[in-house]
Amino acid sequence: MSESGTPTFVTHLECGATGERFPADQVHNLSSAGKPLLVRYDLDSVRRDVPRSVLDKRPREMWRYRELLPIRHSYNIVRLGEIETPLLEVPEWNKGAGVNAIVKDEGRLPTGSFKARGLAMAVSMARELGVTRMAMPTNGNAGAALAAYAARAGIEAWVFCPDDTPLINVTETAYLGARTFRADGLIHECGRFVGAGVTPMGWFDTSTLKEPYRIEGKKTMGLELAEQFDWQLPDVIFYPTGGGTGLIGMWKAFHELHEIGWLDAAQMPRMVAVQSTGCAPIVRAWESGARHAEPWEDAKTYAAGIRVPAAIGDFLILDAVRESDGFAIAVSDESIEAERQAVATADGVLLCPEGAATAAAAREARSRGLIRESDRVVLFNCATGLKYPMPDSAGRVSLADMDWAELQGR
Ligand SMILES: Cc1ncc(COP(=O)(O)O)c(C=O)c1O
Repeated sequence: MSESGTPTFVTHLECGATGERFPADQVHNLSSAGKPLLVRYDLDSVRRDVPRSVLDKRPREMWRYRELLPIRHSYNIVRLGEIETPLLEVPEWNKGAGVNAIVKDEGRLPTGSFKARGLAMAVSMARELGVTRMAMPTNGNAGAALAAYAARAGIEAWVFCPDDTPLINVTETAYLGARTFRADGLIHECGRFVGAGVTPMGWFDTSTLKEPYRIEGKKTMGLELAEQFDWQLPDVIFYPTGGGTGLIGMWKAFHELHEIGWLDAAQMPRMVAVQSTGCAPIVRAWESGARHAEPWEDAKTYAAGIRVPAAIGDFLILDAVRESDGFAIAVSDESIEAERQAVATADGVLLCPEGAATAAAAREARSRGLIRESDRVVLFNCATGLKYPMPDSAGRVSLADMDWAELQGR
């Protein structure tokens, strides 16, 4: 029990590739092998001391899983309202696609995306460890979330994004007070720049998987999903995969839940990594049987969040996909846009393009026989659709001289 009354079970950090151990409660980036660090917990003690019923009286927010989270002192938690996100039925769209899917809508979180989970955790841990200046590369949503949580915590934030990052994300990030810059390179090049600035600028590199705690925040998607499914897990999870933190985090969550005995059924879901045909390094590696992904040349997709040509956690994504008997699948931007429109008009759910990619992938997977109609499928909509451009398909009327018959026909 920490002095502020929050039970904490963190034992150490561990290299995701070599298993080398590193002490907790210190500032870390990558392991000595240059690979992501994963937080490890004393799961035997959690199993022994923490019954699932501890959750009964806690608020429906990500911090309710505190025994499986790294924060030691609850007063360091930086909160902006990280609510439990809903599972939305899409019955009409399901009929057309021949699947049994439900959408986990992460667009309800602060700054409109699931990046809030990771950055709430990273910034809370930065506060706990005394970090005062954070920097990151972003395709948009992560930068906005860092800006918001850093503002809240009184930490300085520096954000670098590719030139063509959606304007709404860039302006939001800057408005929230982060030092925000467009740059003439893709996200991995912005990432190299942030890495090079660590010594001269004295900032903490908060890039995806180069700091150990964003993944613990994203892990709460898996913890929450398990609870929403009444401690059973769905059959298949379609996840729009860029850096892969969410997919890796959920897979970690399911293992931890299994180890502490909170799941009622042993069955694990199949994890599906969804990418765009314009940037599909993970799909290519999965298809060729490789453990690491070659960087994707000339990456292009309008689903900006999954335009990640090289992911440092590639092997962790691929391991999770393979261990779970899942698969990786790429869909075209045209099919992404078609499904975005289809789900919106069929069921009133406005997906972001990355979320729509999971819908396109589920339809494609069904038609290729990769999933069954009866499978309980979860599609991750990682951001609000409102932040992304939509074609202006509204008509125009002249109010003064309306021809009602003509209007009927429009
Ligand atoms: C809306 C959206 N979906 C998916 C992703 C990819 O997430 P991950 O890095 O966990 O693979 C991102 C990342 O920027 C995103 O913004």
